[in-house]
Amino acid sequence: MKILAINGSHRKGGNTEILLKEALGSCQKAGAEIELIQLADMKIEYCAAHGSDFCKNEGCIYKDGLEEIFGKMVESGAIIVGSPVYMGSVTGKLKTFMDRSVILRRKNFSLKNKVGAAVAVGGCQGGGQEYVIRDIHNFFLIHSMTVVSDGVDTAHFGVTGVGGGVGDVRKDKAALEVARNLGKRVVEELRLRSG
Ligand SMILES: Cc1cc2nc3c(=O)[nH]c(=O)nc-3n(C[C@H](O)[C@H](O)[C@H](O)COP(=O)(O)O)c2cc1C
Repeated sequence: MKILAINGSHRKGGNTEILLKEALGSCQKAGAEIELIQLADMKIEYCAAHGSDFCKNEGCIYKDGLEEIFGKMVESGAIIVGSPVYMGSVTGKLKTFMDRSVILRRKNFSLKNKVGAAVAVGGCQGGGQEYVIRDIHNFFLIHSMTVVSDGVDTAHFGVTGVGGGVGDVRKDKAALEVARNLGKRVVEELRLRSG
């Protein structure tokens, strides 16, 4: 059981990473193999919009490391995506990543039926965390993935953390708990599938 997390933050070691690691910790405890991908480590190009046939027949013109991450996504049973709120939405880097992932949809819906869960953190309460979660869920749905949340009564949509400075989200105990429950729910869903 492999679970991949993708951190859309531009800041390594920041609040999104803290929450993603909390969720991944639960997954690991439950026996899953985990990996965290940091988009902050990457320099990625915008989708050049060559069109569906080009994607299918020629592949992507860019060789900037995303193809390796896409391969890991295809090998994983579940993908947890996290982003800080940037101006009420996901980071530009995560959006570019999402746009480039269209190639996976064009190649036979390669992510179909995988489990997806979302993590968001903003500097203030009501700063747009739920919009970020919606953006990430839309990405999952467009790939025909199955969206899950925490599965208990800690939250409804996913992790909505509050914290501005690096590490501030550690004070948001509710978000940390939701993150742990989210990880458990992802594993539960994968177990249901394997019978
Ligand atoms: C360009 C930019 C835009 C931001 N916009 C918002 C926002 O709309 N709402 C909000 O609550 N926080 C906003 N923030 C604050 C970040 O979401 C917050 O600092 C978050 O903890 C960063 O996560 P990280 O530590 O993983 O990078 C913004 C920060 C930056 C740099």
